[in-house]
Amino acid sequence: MNSSQVLDVKRVLAVLEEQVFQSTGRYLTEVEKVLIKGVWDSKDYKEMASDSGYNAYYLQQKVAPPLWSMLSVIIGDGVKVTKISLKSILLKLAKSDYRKEEASRLDNDSFVGNIRIHGELPKIKSFYGRKDEINYFKKQITLFKERCIVFTGVGGIGKTLLASRLVEEITFDSLSSIYECIIWKTINHSLSIDELVIDLNKIFQVDIEASENSFIDSISLLSKQLHLHRCLLVIDGFEKLLLADDFGKRLQYEKFLLKLTEGKHESCIIITSQLPLKEFASVTTKLPIRSFKLEGLDVNAGMQILQEKGLTGQECKRLIENYSGNPSSLEALADRINRFFEGSVKTFFRYQTTMIDPQLETMLHQQFGQIGLLSNLQRQIMIYLAEEMSENSTPIQFSKLIDNLKERVDFKLSVFELITAIEVLEQRSLIEIAGKSNKREASYSLQVSIKKYILVDPLGLVHKIPDTIQTREVTLWATA
Ligand SMILES: Nc1ncnc2c1ncn2[C@@H]1O[C@H](COP(=O)(O)OP(=O)(O)O)[C@@H](O)[C@H]1O
Ligand SMILES: [Mg+2]
Repeated sequence: MNSSQVLDVKRVLAVLEEQVFQSTGRYLTEVEKVLIKGVWDSKDYKEMASDSGYNAYYLQQKVAPPLWSMLSVIIGDGVKVTKISLKSILLKLAKSDYRKEEASRLDNDSFVGNIRIHGELPKIKSFYGRKDEINYFKKQITLFKERCIVFTGVGGIGKTLLASRLVEEITFDSLSSIYECIIWKTINHSLSIDELVIDLNKIFQVDIEASENSFIDSISLLSKQLHLHRCLLVIDGFEKLLLADDFGKRLQYEKFLLKLTEGKHESCIIITSQLPLKEFASVTTKLPIRSFKLEGLDVNAGMQILQEKGLTGQECKRLIENYSGNPSSLEALADRINRFFEGSVKTFFRYQTTMIDPQLETMLHQQFGQIGLLSNLQRQIMIYLAEEMSENSTPIQFSKLIDNLKERVDFKLSVFELITAIEVLEQRSLIEIAGKSNKREASYSLQVSIKKYILVDPLGLVHKIPDTIQTREVTLWATA
């Protein structure tokens, strides 16, 4: 809420006068307005008198008592209106009026009970599995008051749907009254971080233009709104904001995350992003952000998705395993098996082919196509893994990876750089790692669809190293 609008005395008088008129059939007189304005400005009767030309005795003894009595009935709500209590009563009145107007102005919004919903939550046709995750995050948000939760993971893994389900459960839960409003903001590729901040401020009726305020002022205004209102804000598809090779922008992402999570506000921000947030911002102070990398669905949930599409049988389990339980991959696969293989998973396996679903493919286009996102070394690791695993799908051991890469790349390979490159790839779910926890040498592999994408290289992005990164062997994002 824009407090300057709320605190404008003219507006307060207009609201009050409307109420007086509805109750008594008359408007406030000039002298009554003098008193109310005087109280608003915390003046005593003498000051009011000298400002207005009325006699102080007349104001205090003749006008004030009947005015306070009348206002006690109209706006007191059980509290006696006096010169001392009037201002706080007027403030309340103005705020509730402002809220009403604000709500009616936002035709984009809807209400669930008292909660204002801004933006459109994705429709959930069916939702399988992830029960433990939902319960866990619900607790983190409602009980432990986490201020920022981030879901990361590859395209199509279910980040958006999980966030949507979580918001639904929180909204329809009896605990929901902890939030006044829910804002769902989907990021599209044309949006910049500056525009995002302006858009979010507008939702709170804080009207600013980029040119009028510095970026930092705009975020401060937004942060203030999150302190003023208990708000559940979802920013879906944060990775689309990222301009990986623009250092100035990286500082802005950093400020955005710092400012929105600082202080003990009671709002919560849920962010979904294909890229881990530490790739956006190299903040040295620890942010109060909880990040979770989503893995695929479990076998039961995967089976439910396939069954819904009419696929049955034991081979379905192999399908789920091969595609790492990625729900959008399973859905796209089931559609194609129905269309081309008469719904027989067995027949599909006979052709020994691999499919890439559109959501995952879009993500890979971005990863390989956007300047500054994948370093040359990271590309070489992925290409090597894809080629090595094209014949034999056994994961590749770390020592073998080093030895073979050394022979392949035409630059001096540092093991430290290799390790940091692998870590980034793993955090982005672009490579999979086995044997991490049991002190055995780690081995690396690729999910089948990613392997296929690299080998087919449908848009020629995999092998085309953007000029700007050709000479930089260490990724900008090696801070991970
Ligand atoms: N838990 C789930 N149960 C059923 N279907 C799911 C589930 N999670 C995701 N899906 C399906 O996969 C698709 C992709 O999920 P989405 O949330 O858009 O992925 P992401 O945001 O990670 O790219 C959804 O449109 C939905 O059809
Ligand atoms: Mg999404």
